Amino acid sequence: MAGKWVLAVMAAAMILGVAMADMSEETKVKTVKGKKVCTRGWECTQWSIYCCNNTISDFFQAYQFEDLFAKRNAPEAHAIGFWDYQSFITAAAIYQPLGFGTTGGKLMGQKELAAFLGHVGSKTSCGYGVATGGPFAWGLCYNKEMSPSQSYCDDSYKYTYPCSPGADYYGRGALPIYWNFNYGATGQALKADLLNHPEYIEQNATLAFQAAIWRWMTPMKKGQPSAHQIFVGSWKPTKNDTLSKRVPGFGTTMNVLYGDLVCGNGEVDDMNNIISHYLHYLDLMGVGREEAGPHELLSCAEQKAFNPSYTEDASS
Ligand SMILES: *[C@@H]1O[C@H](CO)[C@@H](O)[C@H](O)[C@H]1NC(C)=O
Ligand SMILES: *[C@@H]1O[C@H](CO)[C@@H](O)[C@H](O)[C@H]1NC(C)=O
Ligand SMILES: *[C@@H]1O[C@H](CO)[C@@H](O)[C@H](O)[C@H]1NC(C)=O
Repeated sequence: MAGKWVLAVMAAAMILGVAMADMSEETKVKTVKGKKVCTRGWECTQWSIYCCNNTISDFFQAYQFEDLFAKRNAPEAHAIGFWDYQSFITAAAIYQPLGFGTTGGKLMGQKELAAFLGHVGSKTSCGYGVATGGPFAWGLCYNKEMSPSQSYCDDSYKYTYPCSPGADYYGRGALPIYWNFNYGATGQALKADLLNHPEYIEQNATLAFQAAIWRWMTPMKKGQPSAHQIFVGSWKPTKNDTLSKRVPGFGTTMNVLYGDLVCGNGEVDDMNNIISHYLHYLDLMGVGREEAGPHELLSCAEQKAFNPSYTEDASS
């Protein structure tokens, strides 16, 4: 009897498995103003040119997430049980119709994912050099800053993003958010009241991943490219960019996200740690680090920041 029951459950699971695989691959196609647009399963539900090719789960599955973030639930980790594949893929579904992981075919999709997750892994790692599994096995070890030295309230934003009494705007999330104005802007974009409830980011992994993908997909300032555009090559550098050594590729994604905290300082550890996570993930995803291209494209060591943290005027 018990044996039969197990078989029945297995059969049901197999049927369900097949049904789910079919569902995720179902592409609907139509033509709008001469352009082919598609929807594809639950991951890509808006009619878009980006939904006609692979979706992320076609080339990045749960076991790969487990490989990349192998130590996130180790006893030494600081956000045990928080981060999971389902939260990531749920968050990604909002941005796939906009091109996240879905621009330029499968290889570009894999590379963009490795690049985005490389940023995430290095920013949330607790692998300090000697950790077991190597220094790059510890991404998603944190979901918040552990010992904030301040509450990150910038009063000069009191009319746009006023600090909420009692709220602390320390670093939280997958690409950690700091300061009231960043919580305010992110919350506005995601329609979540993060200014009054910054803690939502450390309570909800889907929201935390959404915030990080939004940051990747959205320019910091009007007229500037997003990290996504820089990475997939849809950004065309101006003469000013070229003079500042900013070229399409991974290196410049660090420039747009962190500016001179990471870039323009030569071959510093902060920068090389982010690059190393990206390369490690390319290997783990079966793409291979050689696909990343030469070090000049990976580095921002010699670049001028898009957004300098202080102006030359102010310092002179
Ligand atoms: C779809 O894939 C093809 C072939 O890999 C690629 O050339 C094309 O740019 C992709 N479409 C989009 C919208 O990125
Ligand atoms: C977590 O955030 C997602 C995305 O914003 C939302 O849909 C979901 O309801 C939230 N979950 C909880 C338990 O609040
Ligand atoms: C060119 O770059 C400099 C310094 O990086 C900046 O101050 C200036 O505003 C830029 N000009 C344009 C047109 O973007």
